[in-house]
Amino acid sequence: MNQTIDFQLNGKAARVETDPSRRLLWVLRTDLALTGTKFGCGIGLCGACTVLVDKKALRSCRLTLADIKGKEVTTIEGLAQGGQLHPVQQAFVDHDAMQCGFCTPGMILNAFSLLLANPNPSEGEVISEMDGNFCRCGAHPRIMKAIMSAAQTMKGTVEQAGSAKRDG
Ligand code: FES
Ligand code: FES
Repeated sequence: MNQTIDFQLNGKAARVETDPSRRLLWVLRTDLALTGTKFGCGIGLCGACTVLVDKKALRSCRLTLADIKGKEVTTIEGLAQGGQLHPVQQAFVDHDAMQCGFCTPGMILNAFSLLLANPNPSEGEVISEMDGNFCRCGAHPRIMKAIMSAAQTMKGTVEQAGSAKRDG
């Protein structure tokens, strides 16, 4: 039976009337036209469908609408702000960290979540956290460079914001 599900989507209030057992991936792609979230395996193994829920990277092919009721969902479409790519997105562009690009939205959101939890990761920590996001094109070395570089940029942004606050 359909229900009204309210949640936050990319910083705005969202409401859908649907069966709460439907998967978030398909509601995003088919009901809300947010096709940046990709379908890969559908069984939680590849990471192509990764979104953030309350700032944690989760697999939208495994989440139902009931799971995200009242929560904050961020998809790849919600990362850029004011026409500016997010530092993780910019780093992927700068380091050419994609080939076909199919895995890229999930990679970027998983990397963003990793850097929120651990702003200064070692290469080993990045490898271990990104291990479950598959890339069939073999862009992994460039993805690694992009994430290490985004970590530096994000740290700089946070430090700048902190010193502006102190100065202001
Ligand atoms: S489509 Fe969700 S993990 Fe593969
Ligand atoms: S760039 Fe093609 S799957 Fe990763």
